[in-house]
Amino acid sequence: PDVILAPTPPMGFNNWARYECNLDQQLFTDTADWMVTHGLLAAGYNTITVDDCWMNWDRDPTTGALVTNTTIFPNGMAWLGKYFHDRGFKFGIYEDAGHKTCGGYPGSQGHYQQDVAQFASWEVDYIKLDGCYVKRNESLPESETLEPTFRQLYERFGDAIRSQPRPMVYSESAGAYFAGLSAGTGDRVGKDWYKVHSWIGRYGQLWRHSTDISVYKKDGKSRWPSVMTNYRFNIRLARFQKPGNWNDPDFIITGDDVGLTLEEQKSQFVLWSIMASPLILSTNVKDLTNNQVAFLTNREIIAVNQDPLGIQGRLSWRSEDSDVLVKPLQNTTQRAVAVLNKDSTSANVSVPFSRLGYNFPPSASGCTYLVRELLTQSEQTITVTAPRTHYLTTLLRGHASAMYRITALTPATEC
Ligand code: GLA
Repeated sequence: PDVILAPTPPMGFNNWARYECNLDQQLFTDTADWMVTHGLLAAGYNTITVDDCWMNWDRDPTTGALVTNTTIFPNGMAWLGKYFHDRGFKFGIYEDAGHKTCGGYPGSQGHYQQDVAQFASWEVDYIKLDGCYVKRNESLPESETLEPTFRQLYERFGDAIRSQPRPMVYSESAGAYFAGLSAGTGDRVGKDWYKVHSWIGRYGQLWRHSTDISVYKKDGKSRWPSVMTNYRFNIRLARFQKPGNWNDPDFIITGDDVGLTLEEQKSQFVLWSIMASPLILSTNVKDLTNNQVAFLTNREIIAVNQDPLGIQGRLSWRSEDSDVLVKPLQNTTQRAVAVLNKDSTSANVSVPFSRLGYNFPPSASGCTYLVRELLTQSEQTITVTAPRTHYLTTLLRGHASAMYRITALTPATEC
């Protein structure tokens, strides 16, 4: 009973940002095969989720069951799940808490027990529950916003999951409907957004809280602003995160022609890793270059993301042009540090050692650190005597990041 589901951030693949409703069985079997042969599964990307548009427009008229669209999934969902399981993956699927999915397919409202039982019979391991078309609970006072209705529905769906003997990870999209991002109010969060995050972790393991990092080809515009928006929203939720409870700033979109430069793609990966965010790729994996596969499977960076403490890296330093995040790690002599150049041109970013999460008692005479940069895998040993004026300086190209793992070589009690 007390087993923590998703004790570290979920990792895997979801088709949505890259393919939207253009999905079929072969996309998923090819993706799974490719992830095995190119080391993505071995690196930890082990959950493959089928997003919206996998079903028919109507439920079965006699049983009320959801019906798989067998034109695109000829062998059905139980077969696909077995295909994943046989190769070592977990099987994820999409539904919606309202009466329709965002794509207009049958939603789960009114059918929670039945749908969850159906998913369990297909040996589903992970359910993403979206929040489009949620119908207001009319017994609640009219003055109420939709927030109490969402709470009731997400709780009930969680109960339905827990009533099954099969453990299934529950990804809840409720917060995304309260972020206020579509209202055009910039970074001001919507009313009730924090309220949603005060209960969401009781029911599920991860939750989307901001906008979709959408498909580049729709408008040809850079996706960097969208990545930065979700990053800034994610930073505000650090206190809600712990093992089994993850803030989800949406997909990693590394890939070809996605509207991010290679530096921006690496930055997204570094930021998501240090925030211990879910690492869910939404891309054409077959077009990933060796270079992209190399950073996506960087074992040291993934180890930071998957560190058992599960602490979200927090802002420890911010200027106009740079952000620095520090993440405590299980090894108490170590910290992970990410340095982001927010400017579009190259810059030297300097961070005082006093901001890197170590103590430096006044008596400390000199502290020595092993500073390893994880993207380039280069290291240096640095002795610090005056932490407030001794800077760690990094030359970064526009929108680029560095990620360090720092180890105190002097005993931690002193430094
Ligand atoms: C919403 C979600 C996306 C995706 C689509 C499917 O927009 O945020 O991640 O699941 O619905 O229609």
